[in-house]
Amino acid sequence: MNVTIIGAGYVGLTTGLALAYIGHDVCIVEKDNRKIELLKKGKSPIYEKGLEELLALVKKNVTFTETPEEKVPDSDVIIIAVGTPPLENGEADLSYVEKASEEVADCLQSGKSYTVVIKSTVPIGTNEKVSMQIKRRLKENNISCEVNMASNPEFLREGMALYDALYPDRIVVGAKSEKAIADLQQLYSPILQQTFTPPHFLQRPNGMKLPHFIVTDTTSAEMIKYAANAFLALKISFINEIAGLCEKVGADVVDVARGIGTDRRIGMSFLNAGIGWGGSCFPKDTSALVEFAKKIGYDMPIVSAARKVNYKMRKTPVEKLKNHFGSLNGRTIAVLGLAFKPNTDDIRESPAIDIIKAILAEGARVKACDPVAIENAKKALEKENVSFFEDPYESVEGADAVILATEWPQWANIDFERLASRMENRVFIDGRNYYEPEEIEKAGFTYMGVGR
Ligand SMILES: NC(=O)c1ccc[n+]([C@@H]2O[C@H](COP(=O)([O-])OP(=O)(O)OC[C@H]3O[C@@H](n4cnc5c(N)ncnc54)[C@H](O)[C@@H]3O)[C@@H](O)[C@H]2O)c1
Repeated sequence: MNVTIIGAGYVGLTTGLALAYIGHDVCIVEKDNRKIELLKKGKSPIYEKGLEELLALVKKNVTFTETPEEKVPDSDVIIIAVGTPPLENGEADLSYVEKASEEVADCLQSGKSYTVVIKSTVPIGTNEKVSMQIKRRLKENNISCEVNMASNPEFLREGMALYDALYPDRIVVGAKSEKAIADLQQLYSPILQQTFTPPHFLQRPNGMKLPHFIVTDTTSAEMIKYAANAFLALKISFINEIAGLCEKVGADVVDVARGIGTDRRIGMSFLNAGIGWGGSCFPKDTSALVEFAKKIGYDMPIVSAARKVNYKMRKTPVEKLKNHFGSLNGRTIAVLGLAFKPNTDDIRESPAIDIIKAILAEGARVKACDPVAIENAKKALEKENVSFFEDPYESVEGADAVILATEWPQWANIDFERLASRMENRVFIDGRNYYEPEEIEKAGFTYMGVGR
C-alpha cells in the first residue's frame, strides 16, 4: 500500500520503517529539516535500537520529505503521528494534530478514497473532532473525496520501539468505516500473521503468539490507550507506595514484589520499586486523562494518587542524602543516568533531571553521566551548573555520593571497588534497586535502595 506518515518522532519513524520493511511504499513527512537531512543520509535522529540498520535495509521503500503534498495525494493510508505534549494546565496540546490534519486535508484530491489514521495519543473525542475538521476543510477547498477515519493508538516502548512495532501484543483499531478497518487489517497483515522474514538483528521471539486485532469504535480506542498507560503507571506507583512502607518497617520490597508478582493474576512486570516513572507518555497521559475527566465532571482519584506517589518518589534520593550528610551544601553528587529509562536518549520528564535540579538547589555540585542522552540533557539543563560524562568512573571523581537514576545495561557489572576508589565519600543511592546491596557494601559504600 502507499502510506504517508506525518511526524518522524519515536512513533512515526519507527512505524514508518516497520511498514516499509513489511513491503509498503512509505513516505515520512517531517517539518524539522534537521531530521530530514539526517534521515536522507541514512542516520537516525533518535537513539533507538535497530533503527539505523532497518533504515539501510528499507532504503528503496521509504522517502523523507518536509512537504506533505509530495505523496499524500496518492496515498491509501495517511497516519498522523505528531506529538501531543502537555499544556500548562495538564491537558494535551492538540495543536500539532490539528495542524497536521489540515495540512493533510489540503493535499487530498477529488474522486479518491483515503484512510486517515490518528496514531498520536489523543483525548477522548479527538478523532470525531478531527474528522469534522477535515470535512470542513475539504468543503472549503471544494474537494469531494472519501475520507475514512480511524484511531490506531500506539503501544511501543521507547528502547524497544522496533521490536514492539514488529512483534506487538495487539493492534487496536477504532473506526466506524468498514473500509478503514479493512485497510488497516491489510496494512498490518504481515505483522498480524507474522508472515515477514525477521530482520537479522531483531529475531522474532520464540513461541510468539499472533497479535490480537482489536476492532472497536474511535472513542473506545482512544480510551484504551489512556487506560493502558494509566494502569501501568499506577502499577509502578503501587509498588512504590508499598516500598515506602517497607522502609519504615524493615521489609524488602524486592522480595515483596516477587512474592506478589508470581501470582499470575498480578504478574511480575511493572513491579520494580524505584524513583518512579517519567518519559514522554505516562506523565502527560495520566495528566491528560485526569484533566479530561475533570472537565466532564468525573473524578479519577486512583490515577491522581498514582501521579502524587510518583512525584514524591523523585524527592527521595535528595531526602536520603540530606538525612545522611546533614546538608548537601558544597558536596559533589554523581548522577548515573539521565534518560528516563535505559536504551533511549529521551529525557522528557526524566526523574534524573528533577533530581539534578533538587541537588543543585541544596547547594551541591552535580556530575552527570549517561551513554547517549547527554546532548538532550544539556538542553534541559542549559542554565544549570552541571558537568557531563559518558564514563561512570570519571563522573564519580571526588564525589561524596552516587545516585543511580537509570539502570543502563552496560552498568550491570560496574566495578564498585573502582568507583569507590575515586570518591571522596562512599554513599550509593540505588534509585532503581538495580544492584545487590551486599555487593555495593563490600566496596565500602553505605547503600540505600528503594524500599529495602
Ligand atoms: N514516544 C513513545 O514512546 C510513544 C508511545 C506511544 C504513543 N506515543 C504518542 O505518539 C505521539 C508521537 O510521539 P513521539 O514520541 O513520536 O513524538 P516526537 O515529539 O518524538 O515526534 C513528533 C514529530 O512530529 C513532527 N511534527 C509535528 N508536527 C508536524 C507536522 N505538521 N508535519 C510534519 N511533522 C510534524 C515533530 O517535528 C516531531 O519530529 C504522541 O501523541 C505520543 O503521546 C508515543
